[in-house]
Amino acid sequence: MSTPEPKATPIHPGRRPYGAYYRRMDRLTTEPDPELTRVGPGTPMGEYMRRHWQPVCLSQELTEVPKAIRILGENLVAFRDRGGRVGVLERHCVHRGTSLEFGIIQQRGIRCCYHGWQFDVDGSILETPCEPPGSRMKDNVFQGAYPAFERDGIVFAYMGPPDEKPDFDVYDGMVLPEGTKLVPFSNIYPCNWLQVHENLIDHFHSAALHNNMTVDSVDAAIRAGTSLGAGFARLPVIQWIATRDGNGIAFTAARRVSDEKVWIRMTEIQLPNLIQIASVAPSAAELRHTTVSMTRWQVPADDENTMVFGWRHFNDEIDPAHFGREEACGIDKIDFLDGQTGNRSYLEGQRAPGDFEAITSQGAITVHGLETPARSDVGVYMCRNLLRQAVRGNAAHDSTRDAARRRGEPLPVYTSDSVLNIPRRVDGDDDELLAEVAAKVFAIMKECDQVPSAERKAHAKRKLDEIDGGVR
Ligand code: FES
Ligand SMILES: [Fe+2]
Repeated sequence: MSTPEPKATPIHPGRRPYGAYYRRMDRLTTEPDPELTRVGPGTPMGEYMRRHWQPVCLSQELTEVPKAIRILGENLVAFRDRGGRVGVLERHCVHRGTSLEFGIIQQRGIRCCYHGWQFDVDGSILETPCEPPGSRMKDNVFQGAYPAFERDGIVFAYMGPPDEKPDFDVYDGMVLPEGTKLVPFSNIYPCNWLQVHENLIDHFHSAALHNNMTVDSVDAAIRAGTSLGAGFARLPVIQWIATRDGNGIAFTAARRVSDEKVWIRMTEIQLPNLIQIASVAPSAAELRHTTVSMTRWQVPADDENTMVFGWRHFNDEIDPAHFGREEACGIDKIDFLDGQTGNRSYLEGQRAPGDFEAITSQGAITVHGLETPARSDVGVYMCRNLLRQAVRGNAAHDSTRDAARRRGEPLPVYTSDSVLNIPRRVDGDDDELLAEVAAKVFAIMKECDQVPSAERKAHAKRKLDEIDGGVR
């Protein structure tokens, strides 16, 4: 008896030339992933995010009038009282709902403009002037409030269950090298937080979007202000690695700079929404053993709007050529690359698209079910999987964080740029060599987790020097 011919898998007619007609129903009926993209109260991702300190506005936005903010789908108001304390309260007054963005800032707390109830930064009611003398109303009612503090020009709030409030994580890059100045900035993206976040894991786009794919076109991209520099135009050899017991993800991007030199760039993401980025200067491919130049959180305002808050790090080590401009960082502005905000014209965006155009044009919420996963997306999908596990409560405890907290030290971060002398091998695959070197650099950075913070950098440099000249 002859073996029956295996049946060919039918090709979706939408995957043929002129197939749009067959995809029209998919486009209409495929929904965004609710587990990763919905952030309102009670949603899985929203609850997970609420268990981490989140930036909510810049200190410079706290003036003599309150600042209306929207974070994780909640309408809030932030202010600094005349006593210098920061408050983050529910925006609508607990009495009859007037917005506290019209409130009057007091020596202690804020007073609602409508009937004059005065709220302290923890939501306690200090006065109810329209109530009869002796009223106990204020003793039994509270305005909703979230714990908040300021650090280096950013206001952070904790919106989770009070008894689960964690310590704020301070990383090496926020305090080292000594003398580092952190300059705060924000950027506003009218789309879901996840696609803004994923853009930073999607490192291949630094060769395409930021350099139009070829070294020849780098000059044009530099003129347009959307190039990260010629070094980024070469396609990297990338390896993504789950870090911090499944609470983070890092990638190494290895590029050959010359026949003699190799540049290894490492970037680390801490779940859910923090990323620390190595140098963004055009001369990054000439740096050696440097760390963080930008720390940023992708904070959902709601499902379809994202606030990026972060710091640019200024010190001579990360930016010896003084490419960075402190004065160009602030509310919805950043100094390192055009196309980070919606402040350019539509035509400018079309002629020289940047991150803003690439990300926001994916749609208000990217529909993962309509994507075509490719090899370059490994990191994006790894990040989604890690987030899904963390949201479901399946992530292990972060032992690095625990150890650093026990020692009372800043947390380590793998983010770095290292240029090493690694000559091409006479025979053999150069991409394999690049991957090998990158793996060695990652192993060194990982080893540094065990080294006290004050010695970490010197230890990393020493170990990197050992592989300078060639890996064995
Ligand atoms: S609505 Fe705020 S005090 Fe009445
Ligand atoms: Fe980018």
